[in-house]
Amino acid sequence: TLMGATVKRVVVNDDLTINVDALVEAVRERPRMLLFSNPMNPVGSWLSGGDLSRVLDAVSDETLIVIDEAYAEYAEGDDYTSSLPYLSRRDRPWIVLRTFSKAFGLAGLRIGFGIVGDPELRALLDRVRTPFNANAMAQAAALAALADDEHLARVVALAMAERARVETFLKSKGLGVAPSRGNFLFFNCRQDASVFVEGLLRQGVIVKPWKQQGFDTYVRVSIGSASENDHFMAVLSELL
Ligand SMILES: Cc1ncc(COP(=O)(O)O)c(C=O)c1O
Repeated sequence: TLMGATVKRVVVNDDLTINVDALVEAVRERPRMLLFSNPMNPVGSWLSGGDLSRVLDAVSDETLIVIDEAYAEYAEGDDYTSSLPYLSRRDRPWIVLRTFSKAFGLAGLRIGFGIVGDPELRALLDRVRTPFNANAMAQAAALAALADDEHLARVVALAMAERARVETFLKSKGLGVAPSRGNFLFFNCRQDASVFVEGLLRQGVIVKPWKQQGFDTYVRVSIGSASENDHFMAVLSELL
């Protein structure tokens, strides 16, 4: 938007899964850039390996592919796959984005990375980034985090188990919840989300209300520790 681009959005299906046909159709219009997150924020839905290759196969050489995999660590499961194996076979420019803000818990350090298929594209990015854009402490922490597989596995296992527990709870309250492979759940609170989140906030729970047309009864809640989730569920029960 800053660069004056026209943004064409692809809306999700009614069941909040990604509309793969619409995505393929949009890509066939040969945009300058295709940008999406997988798993997708704010809903948590994801593209299976098959659907991902369908979309990527439809991309023409004129389109730069940018896939944000901020939540990849949480997405483990039969039908999720990183785009890297697909993209590494392409000789046209692509970027995969990863962050240390989510599963690695380093959001405050502002560090992430991009995997770039094309050296020329990498040089272009180098030209526009600010000097020293990732500070030395953040880089040291990121390297330590990457080396600590055990911690990552523990954090992800906890988040996945808690996600399932909170999802079951929300469903038991009769609330529609989108299937999620992120560290959050997107659910229909069946009332004005902005008012609903005020009630949660009064009890110390900060969640994000959705304001887009058609989604203004939806709320996204991040998965926290077991006790934080217990607190959220207790407050939500009260509010309902
Ligand atoms: C899709 C997506 N990408 C990236 C991020 C994280 O961004 P950053 O690395 O700037 O903290 C988020 C966090 O909200 C996100 O939802």
